[in-house]
Amino acid sequence: MKSIGIDGGYGIDKITIIKEELPTINSNEVLVKVNAISLNQLDLMLAKGAFEKALPHVLGSDAFGIVEKTGNEVSAFKIGDRVCTHYIQAWESGFLKPEDLKTRLGIEQKGVFSEYIALPEQYLVKAPANLMDAEAAALPLAGITAWEAIVNIGQLKAGQTVLLQGTGGVSIFALQFAKAIGAKVIILSGSDEKLKKAEELGADVMINHTNTSQWAEEVLLATEGLGVDLTLEMSWTGIGQTLQATKFGGRVAVVGMLGGMNAELSVLDVMLKSLSITGVQAGSKASFEAMKQFIEAKNIKPIIDKTFLLSQSSEAFHYFDEGKHFGKVIIHF
Ligand SMILES: NC(=O)c1ccc[n+]([C@@H]2O[C@H](COP(=O)([O-])OP(=O)(O)OC[C@H]3O[C@@H](n4cnc5c(N)ncnc54)[C@H](OP(=O)(O)O)[C@@H]3O)[C@@H](O)[C@H]2O)c1
Repeated sequence: MKSIGIDGGYGIDKITIIKEELPTINSNEVLVKVNAISLNQLDLMLAKGAFEKALPHVLGSDAFGIVEKTGNEVSAFKIGDRVCTHYIQAWESGFLKPEDLKTRLGIEQKGVFSEYIALPEQYLVKAPANLMDAEAAALPLAGITAWEAIVNIGQLKAGQTVLLQGTGGVSIFALQFAKAIGAKVIILSGSDEKLKKAEELGADVMINHTNTSQWAEEVLLATEGLGVDLTLEMSWTGIGQTLQATKFGGRVAVVGMLGGMNAELSVLDVMLKSLSITGVQAGSKASFEAMKQFIEAKNIKPIIDKTFLLSQSSEAFHYFDEGKHFGKVIIHF
């Protein structure tokens, strides 16, 4: 079978098709025929050598597929079920534990960008019934991270306001969840075209940060000078403005580090405004199940920017790395 991985060195140009044996299953495992996968910044980081994985290394946290075979002890799934992978596999519910991190797909564990994957049944989640294959493949990392930031950490309520940064996978899921909750969305992007698409999805205030360098002032103007209840921090290069744009007693959910891993911030701002700054690590399986129910109840459809074929994997990764996408990039197997 074919898998997408890194071989022969690090770098996007080293992403290639790796030939592997079909996996066999143990009695507690499920064999899944993968139909679609989605790309994340994590895959790019791995490809560029961030985790210095031994090579060859199969990439991937996000896969959707159909159950093809089940082990004797499997009770939760049957042949033909539509399933998604769960990124931090051992994180079932409650608080994240250090040992859970050893089960992250694509990092500590082999990735799932393969034609077939064999996983213990407790590491899979049934896909939302209202979604097509590519839409379900978009969920595992970006969807659950947006859910964790908006619902569990952010505690966002109807009538409150959230500030989103960028229009990638996590931000666009966050926009959809926030609007379905009844919250107001302020979104930043470097592209007017992408802001137009965000508006079509229900964003209330759109700010192009490339021609509005003091974007925090615009956020304050849009919130009667108070600031937003919740910000999803993606970059850290503008953390000073994030603190300025978030209201007294507000929350900052730390999702990304697109601007780099080091940043300076004003401790005084955090203290004076009594802000809560909380790190996000995707989410638990219980959160995935809750997100699934919400997606079905509200009939939310993940936004797919572009789909590629397995034979176009290299093209797909280059496209994703260029950052032109709005929402998710998918590869069909
Ligand atoms: N904590 C977690 O568990 C977790 C899970 C998933 C992702 N993440 C992280 O969250 C971030 C976003 O992930 P994603 O999947 O949404 O990525 P993505 O789909 O690649 O989207 C990123 C978007 O952010 C904007 N952007 C790019 N560089 C930026 C910068 N330096 N400062 C501000 N915005 C920037 C761009 O949007 P515009 O073109 O519209 O400006 C870009 O399309 C990444 O850092 C990723 O590693 C964390």
